Amino acid sequence: MPKGKTPKKPETVWQFIDENGSFRLERPGQFSRLYFPLANEAGMLSNITPRLKGSIKIGQDAFLTLPMSSEDIHASKANRNFWVVKDGRRVWSATGVAKNKAEYKEQNAVEAGLLWHKLIRKNLTLKLKSEITNFIPSSGEDVELMMVSIENLSRKTITLDCCAAIPIFARSADNIRDHRHVTALLNRIALHKSGVLVTPTMTFDERGHRINVLTYAVLGQDARGRGPERCHPTVENFIGEGGSFEYPRAIVSRETKREDLEKAQGKEAMGALEFRRITLKKGAKASFVIIMGIARDKKEINRWLRKFGTPKKAEAALAQTQKHWIKMVSQVRFEMPDNTFNGWLKWLGTQPTFRKLFGNSFLPDFDYGRGGRGWRDLWQDCLALLLTHPQETRELLLHNFAGVRIDGSNATIIASGTYEFIADRNQITRVWMDHGVWPFLTTEFYIHESGDIDFLLQETTYFRDLQLSRVKEKDLSWNEEYGTQLKTKSKRIYKGSLIEHILVQHLVQFFNVGPHNHIRLENADWNDGLDMASHKGESVAFTAFYAGNLKRIASLLQYLASAKKIKSLKLAKELGILLDWKNSRKPAYPSVLYKHRLLARYFEAIQPEISGIKRAFKISQIIQDLHAKADFLIKNIRSKEWIETKDGYRFFNGYYDNQGKAVEGDHPLGVRMTLTGQVFTVMHGISEPWQTQELLRSVNHYLKHPKLGGIRLNTNFKEIQPDLGRAFSFAYGEKENGSFFNHMQVMFANALYKQGFVQEAYEILKNIYRMCVDTNTSKIYPGLPEYFNSEGRGLYHYLTGSASWYFITLLTESFGIKGLYGDLLIEPKLVREQFDGSNSVSVTTLFAEKRIKVVYQNPKHLSYGKYQIEKVHLNGKEIASKLNAPDAFLINRADVQKLSSQKTHVMKISLGVREKVEEEESYYTSPLLLERLRRNNLKKISKGKPYKEKR
Ligand code: G1P
Repeated sequence: MPKGKTPKKPETVWQFIDENGSFRLERPGQFSRLYFPLANEAGMLSNITPRLKGSIKIGQDAFLTLPMSSEDIHASKANRNFWVVKDGRRVWSATGVAKNKAEYKEQNAVEAGLLWHKLIRKNLTLKLKSEITNFIPSSGEDVELMMVSIENLSRKTITLDCCAAIPIFARSADNIRDHRHVTALLNRIALHKSGVLVTPTMTFDERGHRINVLTYAVLGQDARGRGPERCHPTVENFIGEGGSFEYPRAIVSRETKREDLEKAQGKEAMGALEFRRITLKKGAKASFVIIMGIARDKKEINRWLRKFGTPKKAEAALAQTQKHWIKMVSQVRFEMPDNTFNGWLKWLGTQPTFRKLFGNSFLPDFDYGRGGRGWRDLWQDCLALLLTHPQETRELLLHNFAGVRIDGSNATIIASGTYEFIADRNQITRVWMDHGVWPFLTTEFYIHESGDIDFLLQETTYFRDLQLSRVKEKDLSWNEEYGTQLKTKSKRIYKGSLIEHILVQHLVQFFNVGPHNHIRLENADWNDGLDMASHKGESVAFTAFYAGNLKRIASLLQYLASAKKIKSLKLAKELGILLDWKNSRKPAYPSVLYKHRLLARYFEAIQPEISGIKRAFKISQIIQDLHAKADFLIKNIRSKEWIETKDGYRFFNGYYDNQGKAVEGDHPLGVRMTLTGQVFTVMHGISEPWQTQELLRSVNHYLKHPKLGGIRLNTNFKEIQPDLGRAFSFAYGEKENGSFFNHMQVMFANALYKQGFVQEAYEILKNIYRMCVDTNTSKIYPGLPEYFNSEGRGLYHYLTGSASWYFITLLTESFGIKGLYGDLLIEPKLVREQFDGSNSVSVTTLFAEKRIKVVYQNPKHLSYGKYQIEKVHLNGKEIASKLNAPDAFLINRADVQKLSSQKTHVMKISLGVREKVEEEESYYTSPLLLERLRRNNLKKISKGKPYKEKR
């Protein structure tokens, strides 16, 4: 157990109300920045707050409603309002956005689930209850539907005049500042029998001036499918002079004249739909459906009305949508004793899909807000997607490899929808040194899960634009006509195998080093904020990752050679320059100059075009070369970067700055340490177990928050770091400067599991969960945010790579269910606390396209290290392992494939008391599981100075 006080018990303000992750929050107004995502896989994206604010769009250049950041949630008055006038006198906003709010005593709650949002408000003064449900149909139309019901809670018959009121922005998010007024002048507003249509004549955005083809619509019909009696199609007309969205004169004083449509043109548009007066008996309900959509073809509008135009039809679409999302997240289903945890995991399960759809933009917290996804995010989100959509994701991986440049760098932004590669969004040419590690990580995971080793031999193109030599040079003759696919000298599009792409990414980086012979930081690594050390900066952290990958690539090649019975690989002949290891004459790897010269030679050979000639390279020699390179990097890190502070804490230095100075260690302003510097040395076994134990002690001392339980990304450097990056200019405790950054925390847990530090890894996962569900502090709905700030608030909710990692880590490390070259390996690393007094925990997952429910039975409540696998029953019959090991079990893929696809198969794994095992009993040799070094064995293998407890 790590030292430190036990974090306080979380107080979860929302409650799960069913088994499918639906939850309810009373008084949602107690939080000012809550938001919830709505989307479909066709690309309709929106977000919604408890006051029904939030934007609806299909992309950066097509917003139906006003773009909104998290600070607009409380500041803006624009929402999806629904006005009710009772008995012709009392005006009430069923969404809580009204100037006269204080006149009423109200109760309200939000219920939400996969993937719908319901606001429930009771007006106790007027004796009215409203329920407004918003969702985006999974059937793929570009619409958000809003079902409204108003119930008469009084004993009398009443009359209601209802009006939906949704401002229509109808243009690019850029136009919120750029040409706000002029772009309104483009608006052409038309009335439809069911609402308001806006078709701007043109669009003015970064692509230039174009003829617009989109129609933005707000339509509404009552329970009988009748459209509104009257519409107010402009903001001006609806709010009236002196009015506002909270006090629209069209509603409050009913003094607005019917608008002359000719005068409406060129104005800010409004979807204000006044319905026919309704008489409601006691207990009766009036219902409406509002359709907010973006049509590429006006014919779609009538199709929408036919499909969703009554509350009943919308209800059917809602049921279908719920079923769709529930099915999707149920692909992997954990059953732990804590139901809140199970429900919370459902939301994590949705997050990789959210990021596939939203990119890193389009929810109220965002970095670059323009859509598309970054390279590393793309690959990491695929980790979890491989579990739920294996075939589709395989195609995506193959496609993504075409983003690699022959110099080992890659396109950085990938357009959502089209998946087109873009060199850099802002034409600022940058290269992130970590980008090369992620494709291999995901590919390796895919191959183990599927056994599809042939994937490595599939061929694809390389990305080409004007950037050469990892953006150090430009080919000014390059133009769009050349295209974005690399060509050979004879002008043919060049294709290479995926393993060639992977080798290019790693071999180039081996030579691309800074003064200390670690890989150059270039324009940043995983931490986008380390962006000011491109000259002399180095990332030791990611050098460790590359080194680990080199070894793992070697293992995969070994497997490839034996599985496919091949001895050589056909690779671009130029790779021969980088594969320079010869036993007879060892290359001068300690010389930075040697490396730079060799790299220059390679760049010269491949630029501007590659020869296109392929040569057979012996696999055994490639493997030798990769090991030699990895060993060099590892030795370099181990011998130079293990540091000790004056206080006697030891850990790895993860970075060098632009002056070539080590970033971490003692400093006059206080000890400097990063979590990143530790994570990858542990993940790839470069940190020996005794070092891991030592660095854990340092992490707990310098980075762990005693009350919140989270681990910070770095200590407080107390000054800006113009020689390292903008991150340190952020306030301490936020974002990439010392926040509790979940991605790095989860990767740390993953790394610790790999080395067998199971209890410590579990503590990290547990504390992240607790910080999320401690709602009074985190102030978010269920799910995982990108980070928590120093106060414990969750920020950048939903769109974060950490969700994919958390999920994968829980499944493959803690539950220990993973593929091993296509076979099913079961190697649980569960701690007693996870059973929480119960005898079993389970997870249902897909393997080889079969549904398997793995149940761990642990009647003696044993923890990792104390148990062994005693028996395994599949569908009631005992089965044998392919391995002779006490705590791991291997099942042939062929045996799994034999199972029926129609049902869920139950695999019961009984855990019993572990017998004493000899440390040397290393039954498994793949470097994938270096983690065989278990904690229990630490003393025997400890090589470091013995650690003395400080007084
Ligand atoms: C975000 C980015 C990710 C980057 C990280 C740190 O993390 O998406 O690419 O590495 O910030 O700068 P995420 O939101 O995925 O947790």
